[in-house]
Amino acid sequence: MKKKIDRCGIILAGGSGTRLAPITQSISKQLLPVYNKPMIYYPLSTLMTAKIRNILIISDPKNINLYKDLLGNGKHIGIKLNYKVQKKPRGLSEAFVLGKKFIGNRKVVLILGDNIFYGDNLKEKLIKAASSNENIIFGYRVKDPQRYGVAKINKKGRLESIIEKPKISPSNIAITGMYFYNNDVVKKVTELKYSKRGELEITDLNNIYIKNNNLNLYTLGSETAWLDTGTFQSLSDASMFVMAIENRTGKLVSSPEKISYLNKWINKKQLLSIAKSYKNDYGEKLNIIDENY
Ligand code: G1P
Repeated sequence: MKKKIDRCGIILAGGSGTRLAPITQSISKQLLPVYNKPMIYYPLSTLMTAKIRNILIISDPKNINLYKDLLGNGKHIGIKLNYKVQKKPRGLSEAFVLGKKFIGNRKVVLILGDNIFYGDNLKEKLIKAASSNENIIFGYRVKDPQRYGVAKINKKGRLESIIEKPKISPSNIAITGMYFYNNDVVKKVTELKYSKRGELEITDLNNIYIKNNNLNLYTLGSETAWLDTGTFQSLSDASMFVMAIENRTGKLVSSPEKISYLNKWINKKQLLSIAKSYKNDYGEKLNIIDENY
């Protein structure tokens, strides 16, 4: 019998997007295009690849309805979407406070709405993490770790702590914006205090787990791409990356409709009808069904 994955997902699509102003002056960052789809399609696809079907989208009061417009209740792609407002950007960990009712007694994965993952063996890793009982975070080697949460590794090779945006980085392993926790996260988050900048920090939460010896860091290798969208340059680079792969292979990168079909959550007829509704290249690429889709 197949193992049932009792895990839900949360996509946090809040934040003020100040680094991308004026693009983000009037619209949420995670709705900006990354080549041919809104940014949130990428983390949504990542969760769906992990076979997660119950997802809560959190955004600010101004933008929440735009996400509802875009994705609705998710039924058309075989998933169930819920929405919750985060009144003020009070930190990533606040997702577990706002999502308490939604999470219920399930395990949960939080993914940041601007995190793009792409790679061949990613699917296997995601499914494994989603069905695991461990608390898991993923690291990725980057040349500019000081822009992220950074792993401090001790002499024995164990994760000692995470330092948020350090001036001097203890390693070049950045912590990606995807966090798998057991249900106790709902309780753990109540131990946190708001930081100096008034946020419930994800790094503080992870450091509690590390102290309890209860957090595993897996490093994604360079066969996986973890793309950044935080600056004008990296947002544009991410678009170029997706464009290059899609136009070389003729296949869509991170298309929720396609993943839903591959997961057998919608059938061929449903997929083709969605494909037909797009009178453009996105629809044409959706239309191609072969074994290596
Ligand atoms: C957040 C986290 C940081 C993490 C990053 C990943 O930073 O605080 O630890 O490495 O996401 O995208 P932010 O991008 O919100 O500054």
